Amino acid sequence: MNNHLLQNYRSAPITIVRGEGCYLFDDSGTRYLDMIGGIAVCALGHAHPGIAEAISKQAHTLVQSSNLFGHEPARSLANELAKQSEFDRVFFCNSGAEANEAAIKLARKFAYRNGERKRRTILSCIGSFHGRTLGALAATPNEKYQEGFDPLPGGFRYTPFNDVEALKGAIDETVAAFIVEPVQGESGIIPATREFLQTARELCSQHGALLIFDEIQCGMGRSGPLFAFQHFGVRPDVITIAKALANGLPIGAMLLTERVASGLQPGDHGTTFGGSPVPCAAGLAHLRIRDEIGLQKNVERMSTVLFSGLRDIANEFPDIFGEPRGLGLLAGLPVKDPHDAAALVTHAREKARVLFNKAGNNTMRFAPPLIVTEQQLMDALKALRAAAESLAVAV
Ligand SMILES: Cc1ncc(COP(=O)(O)O)c(C=O)c1O
Repeated sequence: MNNHLLQNYRSAPITIVRGEGCYLFDDSGTRYLDMIGGIAVCALGHAHPGIAEAISKQAHTLVQSSNLFGHEPARSLANELAKQSEFDRVFFCNSGAEANEAAIKLARKFAYRNGERKRRTILSCIGSFHGRTLGALAATPNEKYQEGFDPLPGGFRYTPFNDVEALKGAIDETVAAFIVEPVQGESGIIPATREFLQTARELCSQHGALLIFDEIQCGMGRSGPLFAFQHFGVRPDVITIAKALANGLPIGAMLLTERVASGLQPGDHGTTFGGSPVPCAAGLAHLRIRDEIGLQKNVERMSTVLFSGLRDIANEFPDIFGEPRGLGLLAGLPVKDPHDAAALVTHAREKARVLFNKAGNNTMRFAPPLIVTEQQLMDALKALRAAAESLAVAV
């Protein structure tokens, strides 16, 4: 078949035609157990009937009304997110990068409106990933993503992740916002320490900077509670979410406190499709079903199963793996030789029909649908063990 898709992604090893729960099916009918979940997107699994029904009902009612007029799905989803987060205002967009762009723009405009013309800097962490648009990319200090896209927007500075002393020197009166992932995702699933986030809160309050949590990968229930900041017990001024919000439909959001919401006034920022009715209806269905099935409990129980299995495998193959790390159902297993990580992914897919992927170049990432069962995790761990055995034999 002709393939006119831009070759900006690595060539796909399989073609997926359908999904059901924690399984995906390729074009030859082969079934795969999915430990990637659309990269932390499909919290309720694939083709969830409740989500499909909400999408279909909304598609038959209203798909787009423009931001010139209000509609019920966006209002209801904003209300529900505000209720569950105890934030006051919600801005909808279409992706994670866009949510971070909005947060960066908000931080600068908030300072500007307060007459603080020198407060321009956006501070982010080394190892962070905030997206591929130019502003979000400027906040992502990684050669791999930034190379060749210069000049990037100015006014961005970086500080080492989880380094409290460095943070004390980095936040001053020129910083408009400090943006941080409570769990760094793309650099290898590395949780922030509570002390680092608490110190960030104190320093931002003391110096008048906004604290932004990028919960795009670790939020929406993946850490256990709906939001990762609730796990850490640290309240930022702004959080950004996307990925799992509508269980697979494109949507992103920025949640803010009333105080900082004044930074963006009518006309300051917007997007044609942001918060359109169908993704919002899917998001609402996701939140409702999540509560109905007690998803948080499942995440907590399955997290214990996953981490104990990963620890066993790491102990069995100390030449291949480091210590597992992560939170809830977002886990990373460091692989000592980056070539091994690719070989493990291929072996598990081809021999056991289990889908894993890498975060960074040497960490196996586990971000299964949050509905995953103990048996499915056992199957995935068995596939990982077999893949590790094949490597051990090859050596
Ligand atoms: C923490 C984090 N922030 C931002 C993004 C960008 O989101 P999107 O790909 O929806 O633009 C991602 C995507 O992986 C992410 O993991």
